[in-house]
Amino acid sequence: MGIEDILMYDESLFQNINAFDPDYMPQNYNFRDTQMEAMAISIRPAMIGGQPSNAIVLGSPATGKTTAIRKVFELVEKNTEKVVCVYINCQLHTTRFGIFSQIYKKMFGHVPPETGVPFSRIYDQIMQNLQKNNKSLVIALDDVNYLFQSKTANKVFYDMLRAYEEYPGVKTAIFAILSDLEFKYAFDKNVNSVFIPQEIHFPLYSYSEIE
Ligand SMILES: Nc1ncnc2c1ncn2[C@@H]1O[C@H](COP(=O)(O)OP(=O)(O)O)[C@@H](O)[C@H]1O
Ligand SMILES: [Mg+2]
Repeated sequence: MGIEDILMYDESLFQNINAFDPDYMPQNYNFRDTQMEAMAISIRPAMIGGQPSNAIVLGSPATGKTTAIRKVFELVEKNTEKVVCVYINCQLHTTRFGIFSQIYKKMFGHVPPETGVPFSRIYDQIMQNLQKNNKSLVIALDDVNYLFQSKTANKVFYDMLRAYEEYPGVKTAIFAILSDLEFKYAFDKNVNSVFIPQEIHFPLYSYSEIE
């Protein structure tokens, strides 16, 4: 076969090769109703101006955690403007500035400049905006174990969950997603007192479910 023949060869095992893209969202997404309901129950108070609750989402790789949270966030945003949902991949965004830049981007439509703007200004703009518009903030920290390597986790959890002390009325919650089930996470005391998560478990799929 010549090079062009290889490039143009149209026989394939795949019905839809895009199904292997990292950001692919399956149309048919089954067997995760219980977990998505638990996520919805955590977020629901925020839909009516209340306090959303924190969760820790646990499951081996490829058990559908990322897909589930993305779908739930989509549904929340379809139904209300009162809750800002931000999905953050902690493998890509490992610093406090990087993470809050993603939140800023979601709220203001662009990332803040990387130089010259102190973290405190970005943080202040985010929290003031939430306060002024009476909106809650729910963030998903996917693969959150990456934040523990750099000690960023304590800071980010603290900044998020104790925001109400400086900005009264601001309501925030964290969905922390973990694929590494052996991973033992430990927070400082001042985070432990505000991060009291419910656990949402994603079990492995059975053979018939996979089929
Ligand atoms: N119940 C499901 N139905 C269809 N596709 C699924 C289901 N669960 C997972 N997938 C697919 O499997 C891949 C891995 O899922 P993902 O949500 O990234 O898992 P995790 O975040 O737990 O590693 C994705 O391509 C996703 O679309
Ligand atoms: Mg994932």
